[in-house]
Amino acid sequence: MEKDEKLMEKIISLCKRRGFIYPGSDIYGGLAGTYDYGPLGVSLKNNIKNSWWKKFVDGRNDMYGVDAAIIMNSSVWKASGHVDTFSDPLVECVKCKRRFREDQLKEKGKCDECGSLVGEAKQFNMMFQTQIGAVEDSSATVYLRPETAQGMFVNFKNIVDSFHPKLPFGMGQIGKAFRNEITPRDFIFRVREFEQMEIEYFIKEEDWQKYFEYWRDEMLEWMDGVGIDMEKVYELEVSTDDLAHYSKRTIDFEFDFPFGRKELYGLAYRTDFDLSRHNINYQDEESNVKLIPHVIEPTFGVDRTVLALLSSSYREDLKGEEPRPYLSFKPSVAPVICAVSPLLKNKAELREYAEKIYGILKAEFGRVMWDDNGNIGKRYRRQDEIGTPWCIVVDFDTLGDDTLTIRDRDTGEQERVHKDKIVEYIKERLN
Ligand code: GAP
Repeated sequence: MEKDEKLMEKIISLCKRRGFIYPGSDIYGGLAGTYDYGPLGVSLKNNIKNSWWKKFVDGRNDMYGVDAAIIMNSSVWKASGHVDTFSDPLVECVKCKRRFREDQLKEKGKCDECGSLVGEAKQFNMMFQTQIGAVEDSSATVYLRPETAQGMFVNFKNIVDSFHPKLPFGMGQIGKAFRNEITPRDFIFRVREFEQMEIEYFIKEEDWQKYFEYWRDEMLEWMDGVGIDMEKVYELEVSTDDLAHYSKRTIDFEFDFPFGRKELYGLAYRTDFDLSRHNINYQDEESNVKLIPHVIEPTFGVDRTVLALLSSSYREDLKGEEPRPYLSFKPSVAPVICAVSPLLKNKAELREYAEKIYGILKAEFGRVMWDDNGNIGKRYRRQDEIGTPWCIVVDFDTLGDDTLTIRDRDTGEQERVHKDKIVEYIKERLN
């Protein structure tokens, strides 16, 4: 697929200008591989996470949600294999001394920066290390988790003891993960601090193929539902040589980002690797034997979902004098569901009426914006740009017949709806 660098620039600039995503520590020159989410970005992320949680945890009766600590005992990461194997090949330029991930060099063996040769690759462990407590010796070394998964494996026994679930059942978690990426790049695609939404689904070994297929379908269904452009999604069967140390089979769901086709999510069969490393087993009531459950792991990056949604929904309407950029988010994930304005800012009757409508909608939906800046055309454009599906305007007709103008973001069409029907109108379209 063709790279679209212009599109990426437009998305990054829109994100900064309109309050979705800012470079991390910006006023101090930034910090590579970190980004801060502004009000609209937070709302978008929350809507993504809520949709995920609703489908995969609250919407099922075989899933248990957890929120484990980010800092974990280093024994967890020794047992899981991350201390020994969670590394990427690092090369250094012999001339300018810049460092790169070997497999991501633009030209094999050559420095991306100055074109000189790079030295031999060394394995670089990507976990962030820190010290816990007042004593600075090796026993105080801890790691920020590089995946949320282990927080679930180490709580497996707690969940079994508290809830007595029968196989198959799963655990779900949403939370931050940290990786000291050698070359963070492509905006929020590869960062050093990010969020994951992960499921560990525990099964009997003989059922792994059946549940692998089942979770593949579930993942695709969620992607489609949240608004990812499915024509840009591809499945890649990861070759045996490239499998992570814990996996017997992995599918990467790749997405055509503006900078190329890259991994969006993963689905892995982790066998009984993790539970056996942590010495955990399970008493199966059905067969009355102790066994180590096997695991299917669907894993989703929140930040990559944000980027995939931005890429899927960026549009330019070329009908007017200037292109009208807009984000065609589904209403269920749009940071703002609707904006309310009086046609004229300084007309007291219009303003008072609009404030009442705003109050009702805000109480009902939360993600509602008051917008009375500039003329109505400018307001529409501003709301289109942040992906607000509906703009609601109180005008002079409203004062006579209690109907409001509702303008649709994607078609620009307007219709009049009675004030008593407005909540219902939006509810119907939200779902
Ligand atoms: N528990 C399995 C696991 O962590 P992974 O493929 O290494 O597997 C899972 O990561 C997902 O986390 C990826 O598919 C991606 O969506 C996201 N992810 C991984 N590294 C990332 C990074 N540096 N920046 C942003 N997202 C990342």
